[in-house]
Amino acid sequence: MRNIVILTGAGISAESGIETFRADTGLWAQHKVEDVATPEGFARDPARVMAFYNNRRANAAAARPNAAHQALGRLDAAEDVNLLLVTQNIDDLHERGGSAHVLHMHGAVNSALCAACDHRWPAPSEMHAGDSCPACDAATARPDIVWFGEMPYQMDRIFAALSQADIFVAIGTSGNVYPAAGFVAEAARAGAHTIEINLEPSAVGSQFDEAIMGPATQTVPAWVNSVLSKA
Ligand code: OAD
Repeated sequence: MRNIVILTGAGISAESGIETFRADTGLWAQHKVEDVATPEGFARDPARVMAFYNNRRANAAAARPNAAHQALGRLDAAEDVNLLLVTQNIDDLHERGGSAHVLHMHGAVNSALCAACDHRWPAPSEMHAGDSCPACDAATARPDIVWFGEMPYQMDRIFAALSQADIFVAIGTSGNVYPAAGFVAEAARAGAHTIEINLEPSAVGSQFDEAIMGPATQTVPAWVNSVLSKA
């Protein structure tokens, strides 16, 4: 059994038509991070933040999983592979591409969270400022997204998997946001073989043992095929 941990970022969904964050024309060129991706921004202008994530939800719903998502779905189903797929993405393209178990460390746009009682429920296509929680009835619904300044989800589980990993792969992530950008160092400490798959080397690219450069729809299926052929 091979233990594989994969971290994905916005680049794996780019060829499905989902905008990345840090491209020249990406989301962070169009919106201020502090306005739409911080608890303070939500407190200041919840309607703006709801509208931003309503757009993300609509874009994700209109997108289709691409060959990279589908290849990881095939890897997930392989019998001799123990895979933890960790994504920073809030879209559901991994699930729709066939991955049964996806850890959304930065939350999920199809989920709503009550800021008062922590209840979670499926987000409607549009959320509005002041929506109430179906469990406690407080007007404290928010998108189930991890904003800057908040703790990413399930870090204990991720670090436990990294400490056992034989292979760690980062796909389509720019290596700018921690703790995810630190996973390669953690996996390397544990003795894993580390691989970066991206269009260009990321901010932490020099820390990887191996680099595979090119569009995810080509590089990821090829890499998955090579892993599966070594079964
Ligand atoms: P970024 O937008 O920072 O980086 C996207 C990466 O994908 C870049 O390294 C690109 O080179 C690469 N890329 C683009 N197109 C690609 C393709 N077709 N094939 C392969 N790679 C491609 O996105 P993330 O690294 O995911 O957090 O951003 C990390 C976090 O920052 C996000 O989860 C989000 C953001 O702020 C929060 O909002 C909390």
